[in-house]
Amino acid sequence: MAKIVRIEALGQSQEQTVTVQGWLADKTDKGKLQFLRVRDGTGVIQATLFHKSVSPEAFEAAKHAPQESSVRVTGQVRAEPRAPGGYELSVTEFEIVQAARDEYPITPKEHGIEFLMAHRHLWLRSSRQHAILRIRATIIQATRHWLDTNGFLLVDTPILTPAAVEGTTTLFETDFYGEPAFLTQSGQLYNEANAMAFGKVYCFGPTFRAEKSKTRRHLSEFWMVEPEWAFGTLDDYMNVAEQMVSHVAQTVLKERAAELAVLERDTTCLEKIVAPFPRISYDEAVEIIRAKGDANFKWGDDFGAPDETLISEQFDRPVFVHHYPTAMKAFYMAPDPQRPEVCLSADLLAPEGYGEVIGGGQRSDNLEYLEAQLEKHHLPRAPYEWYLDLRKYGSVPHCGFGLGVERTVAWLCKLDHVRETISFPRMMDKMYP
Ligand code: 4AD
Ligand code: MG
Repeated sequence: MAKIVRIEALGQSQEQTVTVQGWLADKTDKGKLQFLRVRDGTGVIQATLFHKSVSPEAFEAAKHAPQESSVRVTGQVRAEPRAPGGYELSVTEFEIVQAARDEYPITPKEHGIEFLMAHRHLWLRSSRQHAILRIRATIIQATRHWLDTNGFLLVDTPILTPAAVEGTTTLFETDFYGEPAFLTQSGQLYNEANAMAFGKVYCFGPTFRAEKSKTRRHLSEFWMVEPEWAFGTLDDYMNVAEQMVSHVAQTVLKERAAELAVLERDTTCLEKIVAPFPRISYDEAVEIIRAKGDANFKWGDDFGAPDETLISEQFDRPVFVHHYPTAMKAFYMAPDPQRPEVCLSADLLAPEGYGEVIGGGQRSDNLEYLEAQLEKHHLPRAPYEWYLDLRKYGSVPHCGFGLGVERTVAWLCKLDHVRETISFPRMMDKMYP
């Protein structure tokens, strides 16, 4: 065995003899010559076996190795413009780590989505899934980088919680030493305490919603990045969110061009994701829907997916819709002092029909208002006592938002469904694998 090199770094070992460890993606048998395609997670390399260059045993072993056997191939790295990745390996040694025991279930023929989802643990080996999950990693990295370099401190928030953030209808209940507890829907409430302690914070982690409907946008378990800061207003939130989203989109364009090409993503739409984003009020959005869609749309109703698409179609970049009806939003939203029937909230709607990718706004900093809101929303006071405390000891205007990672991945990759945006999606009808 020679020095082990990952396929993505082979260019630095030209003409040297190296070992690649990976899986046999497929092969072509030309009699005295075999072309193996070996994948190691960083790329695919064509390994050429000439019967005179390897031992007869190795040549036979390669000939009979089933697809997805794990292998080690040693050979000289040669520039080959026709090969994918630009290099090939002239093999001198070939070793099977494990010969695949059964025929690999995923073949080049078209498989239905049900079949692929049931084989998600193997499907992840395909080039399309590699492209999506690499873009996801870059989205997360760029988001965190932007926050880390703009004064936000990462403060993690709990997953097991005693109370709801976003209404009680989507709570996953669990048993906490004999007491009921819930999987968190959002780190926001704890983030507010952390913001009062540290000024500017963010949390980033899995969140849970028992969404009892099957849509292209909803997962039961999804990842959310949630910045929150003291002395921030609705406008401040929109300014920060548009800067962050622009940075993320432009980073993906720059660093993941190859992956976007695998997905055949039209990148002109991505180039336009640059701040400032247009901002319209809920009232204005209702006018758009009445003019272009449902003439009888009722003020106070929530937007459905087709409504959001209609609104976003009016713009070539993401659009903020702000000042939603107070009754429609979560209990913590600050009412507009001039017009309390609307609140200081805003959602960011993505173009191309992707709908809401961010929800956020200014939080109420008023103790009495929040006490009344808890009652109005039929929420018990006891688990929120600490949250109310934040309005007793130096309450300040503050704001924050939550960006859904999976919806952002689906949008930037232009996927039909969020199920491919995470390695093992959890949905109403999906727990396996
Ligand atoms: O609008 P949401 O419910 O807002 C909150 O949870 C706030 N507490 C966040 C905050 O202000 N800190 O959710 C925020 C985002 C949505 O815009 C969407 O991108 C994503 O989280 N999201 C989901 N993604 C996938 N599946 C689901 N079931 C989702 N629910 C929300
Ligand atoms: Mg929302």
